[in-house]
Amino acid sequence: MFTVATFLVLFFVHDQLGFSEAQLQFGFYSETCPPAESIVRDVVHQAVTRDPGIAAVLLRLHFHDCFVEGCDGSILIKHDVNDDERFASGNAGLGGFDVVDEAKSELERLCPGVVSCADILALAARDAVAEAKGPFYKLPTGRRDGKIAAMSNAAHLPDVEDSINSLKSKFREKGLSDKDLVLLSAGAHTIGTTACFFVMPRLDAQDPTINPEFFQVLRSKCPHGGDVNVRIPLDWESQFVFDNQIFRNIQNGKGVILSDSVLYQDNNMKRIIDSYVRTNQSSKANFAADFARSMVKMGAIGVKIGVQGEIRRICNATN
Ligand code: HEM
Repeated sequence: MFTVATFLVLFFVHDQLGFSEAQLQFGFYSETCPPAESIVRDVVHQAVTRDPGIAAVLLRLHFHDCFVEGCDGSILIKHDVNDDERFASGNAGLGGFDVVDEAKSELERLCPGVVSCADILALAARDAVAEAKGPFYKLPTGRRDGKIAAMSNAAHLPDVEDSINSLKSKFREKGLSDKDLVLLSAGAHTIGTTACFFVMPRLDAQDPTINPEFFQVLRSKCPHGGDVNVRIPLDWESQFVFDNQIFRNIQNGKGVILSDSVLYQDNNMKRIIDSYVRTNQSSKANFAADFARSMVKMGAIGVKIGVQGEIRRICNATN
């Protein structure tokens, strides 16, 4: 259902499009495969109905696709030998591949050879955000699928233990600003979970930036020497709902992973985080609209268009 707020988000995102996004087009499939977007939306809706946690999984998958070789579906490729991008250590724990495959097989049945896996993934992430009660934004499409998916290309993904300067520069290399970093990393972590694996090192190191009471909560969920695969929410208070609680948590020393907490150590990032949790509504920044705009920007990283790449027949293999 379209509300005034939805309209404003759509308008704002459309209005703010930058240069790189201009290569893609709104409604790229409106003539060649009119049901493309609604099919992806239905498949995502069914998947989230079966498992609400899948929304976060799909959002993360799109990020990991975009940061290596651009948003070209390279993360989906799986050869017989496990030397693909998706098997790099920084991509451990990714999922949602079956949801993309399901949408692709339905689309191949209706419009063979038309809709790219890269677009399916970008649309699925967009729809996943909306399923989690986040903004629904207009997303330009027309991405083509890449043919390269080497594990070594994924060696420099942003890491949970990166310094603030390293995180900033990894985002800048992709054309993303400090504000995008706050919105896309901490902001996206408003939904989803992390394995204790990523939390234990900061607990073992007695990270002093963690709120002492929260430290005890985290320690009880992820005890020293315990199972590193146990999963805990990234946004402690509201794991399944897209809201600004994550920023409040970070303010209060309740960020779960280091790369979220560390943002608050930087003056510029702190100012940006604070802007989303002001009590004064008139000066409070609009998280939903800003997140949507950053997602459109991220979704345009290194895209292949026109005659570049290909339209894969199945998403986990090149043609
Ligand atoms: C500074 C960059 C980032 C770092 C270091 C980072 C790190 C992490 C880590 C360690 C996890 C837990 C993974 C697991 O245990 O399975 C995670 C989960 C997640 N990340 Fe990020 N992330 C970053 C940026 C992003 C971005 C840009 C997005 C999307 C726009 C994103 C979306 C997610 C989501 C939704 C989850 C939850 C996945 C689930 O529930 O399975 N992250 N991230």
